[in-house]
Amino acid sequence: MHGPGEIRVTVFPNDRAAARALAKRIAGHVSAKPSLVLGLPTGRTPVRLYQELVWLVERGQLDLSRIRTFNLDEFLGIARDHPGSYRRFMEDHLFKPAGISDEQVEFLNGAAADSAAECERYEEAIAAAGGIDVQILGIGTNGHIGFNEPARELQARTHRVRLKPETRRSNAALFGSDPNAVPGEALSMGMATILQARSIVLLASGKSKAGCIARVVNGPIATRLPASFLQLHHDVEVVLDEAAASKL
Ligand code: F6R
Repeated sequence: MHGPGEIRVTVFPNDRAAARALAKRIAGHVSAKPSLVLGLPTGRTPVRLYQELVWLVERGQLDLSRIRTFNLDEFLGIARDHPGSYRRFMEDHLFKPAGISDEQVEFLNGAAADSAAECERYEEAIAAAGGIDVQILGIGTNGHIGFNEPARELQARTHRVRLKPETRRSNAALFGSDPNAVPGEALSMGMATILQARSIVLLASGKSKAGCIARVVNGPIATRLPASFLQLHHDVEVVLDEAAASKL
């Protein structure tokens, strides 16, 4: 715990060491509170983290059978079993291999007929779970967190969002390498939804993130760099490999 405006930064030699350390930290949180409410990202960055968590579960060093999870975002207009959906990504990388059951998982339904009602339902589900204890985040090279894209204004609550071309490009791998096949819209937790988590850890690796990490940690708060709002939180840590920390 520290004052707002100070982001704790921890640097590891490589992304594997960062993922391993964060997995151990999460294991510590779960052993202190087995019913931990965990907020989770998708993307390339957390893949190693999820591998490390699964490894701990398989060795009996971590019991995730009572946690609850809330993912940050989902593409609009695709069902949970679509191969490009974030739900499917989570099932493949974490939920199935770690034995996390459907009852433990809350997810935005990108295929919901009424997206506004779906966003409201999600906010209510987070509140009903008692709020998010630990929110893990990745970061886009443009400074987005969840799908809160750089803009003149940011949305506080879970909402429907239009994705930037660079965000669609960086998700193309999920859609047969075709950026045009990536849905143009998504549902995402809002800035206040994220900032209300009791504790936040942002994980970033690789040179492509170094510029925005330096601005997030040391720059002014700006809606054009949504992650900079993390400076307002009293318990946020940025976990990096050396490449992502190279411009600090
Ligand atoms: C996805 C999410 C995004 C990603 C970000 C980085 O759930 O919340 O903000 O964390 O786009 O993605 P990667 O890790 O693929 O660089």
